[in-house]
Amino acid sequence: MTEKYEAITAQMEAVLEKEWPLVSNLSNAAGVLYQGMENINWAGFYLLGEAHDTPADRGEDVIWLSGKRPACDGAAELWLGPFQGKPACVRIDVGKGVCGTAAFQKQTLVVEDVRQFPGHIACDSDSRSEIVIPLVKDGKVIGVLDIDSPVTGCFTQEDREGLEAVAEAIGKVL
Ligand code: SME
Repeated sequence: MTEKYEAITAQMEAVLEKEWPLVSNLSNAAGVLYQGMENINWAGFYLLGEAHDTPADRGEDVIWLSGKRPACDGAAELWLGPFQGKPACVRIDVGKGVCGTAAFQKQTLVVEDVRQFPGHIACDSDSRSEIVIPLVKDGKVIGVLDIDSPVTGCFTQEDREGLEAVAEAIGKVL
């Protein structure tokens, strides 16, 4: 890891505490990234939640085969979490957009030009490139770290490796 990301990871570890609420930890994590990185216009988190348009949510009478409602009904969504930058879209289906695709594939996605990514969800029209890293806890994806840049091709292999280490450090305290 480069010096830049060693410094960001050290700062991250300094502001995170396992005993503290998720929202507090992720809010400071977004702050560290937004202040510590250059050429970015958005840094934050989307967190997996249950789908909210299930038959049961619509008031329909449903008997689940398992006898109880499944944890995630096969259609989980990502919900906006702590971030810094312009207000962003609140809900993203898993499998959709850059965030939903990274969560679905459980792998980092680096998009050099968001206009070339089919299904990219534009929250800030200034964004040109994007990196999304899955947040993993106990081997399971629980959300994503998303960073946008107004510069095309902003994120390099150094950023990918550095931010994967940062996401791992965050995953350990969640
Ligand atoms: N561009 C993302 C949506 C989130 S915003 O960039 C903050 C996507 O396509 O998933």
